[in-house]
Amino acid sequence: MNIEPGITIRRAKPADVGTLTDIDHVCFSTPLAYEVETFLYYLNDRLSETWVADSAMGVIGFTIFEMESRERAHFITLDVLPEHRKKRIGSALMDHAHERARELGASLMVLQVAVVNRVAMDFYERRGYAKTRIIKRYYEDKSDAWEMELGL
Ligand SMILES: CC(C)(COP(=O)(O)OP(=O)(O)OC[C@H]1O[C@@H](n2cnc3c(N)ncnc32)[C@H](O)[C@@H]1OP(=O)(O)O)[C@@H](O)C(=O)NCCC(=O)NCCS
Repeated sequence: MNIEPGITIRRAKPADVGTLTDIDHVCFSTPLAYEVETFLYYLNDRLSETWVADSAMGVIGFTIFEMESRERAHFITLDVLPEHRKKRIGSALMDHAHERARELGASLMVLQVAVVNRVAMDFYERRGYAKTRIIKRYYEDKSDAWEMELGL
C-alpha cells in the first residue's frame, strides 16, 4: 500500500493516548468519542493492537482491533484527521490491521458502523465488507449500527 512519503505506521505508545483522544473527538462527537481511559484499556489489553499513522506533524490517524476469539477479530475504530483524508491513510491503516489480524490467526474481521455514517459504510463496502445485521441502539446515544464483516 502506497502512502505519502514521510508517513509511517507504527504501534501506539502510552505517550500517544492524549493525541488519540483528541483525534477521536475531532472524528466523532460526544458521547461516541472515546476518552483517555478507553485508549489506555486497549493499549494494555494483550488481545488488542493499536496502530498509528505518524508523520512530521505527529500522529494523523490510527486504528484499533481486538482478537475476540482465535479466528475472529473486531475493528474497534479507524480514524483519520479530516485534513489528511483521501490520501490512502485510512486504507493503509486498515490493510495493516487486516495483515496483523491474519498473522494472529484471524479469518474474519467484524465491525460496527453507525447507520448514519455513510462515508465510512461506503469505505468499508468498497473494501469488501458486507452488512450482516442492524444492531438497534448500539451506541451510547441510542443510535443504530450496521454490523459488517470481511473474510480475511
Ligand atoms: C473512513 C476514514 C477512516 C477513511 O480514511 P481516509 O484516509 O480518507 O481513507 P482513504 O484515503 O484510504 O480512502 C478514502 C477514499 O479516498 C480515495 N483516495 C485515496 N487517495 C486519493 C487521492 N490522492 N485523491 C483522491 N481520492 C483519493 C480512496 O480511493 C477512497 O475512495 P474509495 O473508498 O472510493 O476507494 C475517514 O473518512 C475517517 O476517519 N472518518 C471519520 C471516522 C470514522 O467514521 N471512522 C469509521 C468508524 S466505523
